[in-house]
Amino acid sequence: MEYKNLLVETRDGVSVVTINRPEKLNALDDRTVEELDAAFAALGGDASVRGVILTGAGEKAFVAGADIGELARQSPVEGKERSIRGQRMLDRIEKLGKPVVAAVGGFALGGGCELALACHVRVASENAKLGTPEAKLGIMCGYAGTQRLSRLVGKGRALELLLTGEMVDAQEAFRIGLVNKVVPRPRLLEESEALVRKMLANGPVSLRFIIEAVNSGLEMPLAEGQYLEATLFGLICTTEDMKEGTKAFLEKRPPKFQGK
Ligand code: COA
Repeated sequence: MEYKNLLVETRDGVSVVTINRPEKLNALDDRTVEELDAAFAALGGDASVRGVILTGAGEKAFVAGADIGELARQSPVEGKERSIRGQRMLDRIEKLGKPVVAAVGGFALGGGCELALACHVRVASENAKLGTPEAKLGIMCGYAGTQRLSRLVGKGRALELLLTGEMVDAQEAFRIGLVNKVVPRPRLLEESEALVRKMLANGPVSLRFIIEAVNSGLEMPLAEGQYLEATLFGLICTTEDMKEGTKAFLEKRPPKFQGK
């Protein structure tokens, strides 16, 4: 697919996906959601891509939400379809099987906050502001924000953010666990890349299975989640990466993982 609203650049196994509508604060219109879906499908299937950074163009915003112009015109049927399409795209990111870091360099509001929530970790710049202002527009989250926000920061804090619609700054987002790290704006991409590369030094199969165990396990009763973990643990004992990782430790040398 030819991208109109995205830039995708890959260097040494790390792809940087930049949502590029800075004049609209990178708001997610239908076209951008479709492009993100296509881009993450392609990145998921590309073995040379081992990790992804998702960010927004310009100094002001990660993503300032779903495109309000489109939302204002939608029928109930279109609203439901739009919500399902967005949720599907976010699920694709969450289930990518390789680490995805959101580099939040400004506003991450509504759909933008939901998009950041679907990434595995979030790095915010000092000027970032996050929130779910949908209730101020007489609507509500449609890209799984009510579900992921409450799982990440807990029901009480999620309800406060969702019901007031107020934004929090980067430090408050860090305090409540909404972002993993706060860095100066000029260092945002560098720090995000350092974080993703730290993950990529580990076994690729480990990363894939950990993401699967956490994602699926959180939706299960503890005993089932533990059983899933034990099954994946058994499976990972059959991999070349397991042999190499343990052997390298015993031989006091860095491992050379193949992702097999
Ligand atoms: N959808 C569509 N367009 C948006 C948008 C959105 N979610 N957020 C910002 N824009 C557009 C503005 O309409 C404006 O376009 P224009 O120049 O053609 O008028 C442009 O982006 C710049 O935004 P502006 O509001 O002028 O910037 P600001 O610095 O004064 O305010 C915000 C920044 C983020 C506080 C403000 O844009 C805002 O509240 N946006 C909506 C946030 C929201 O409710 N998101 C949830 C949507 S479900």
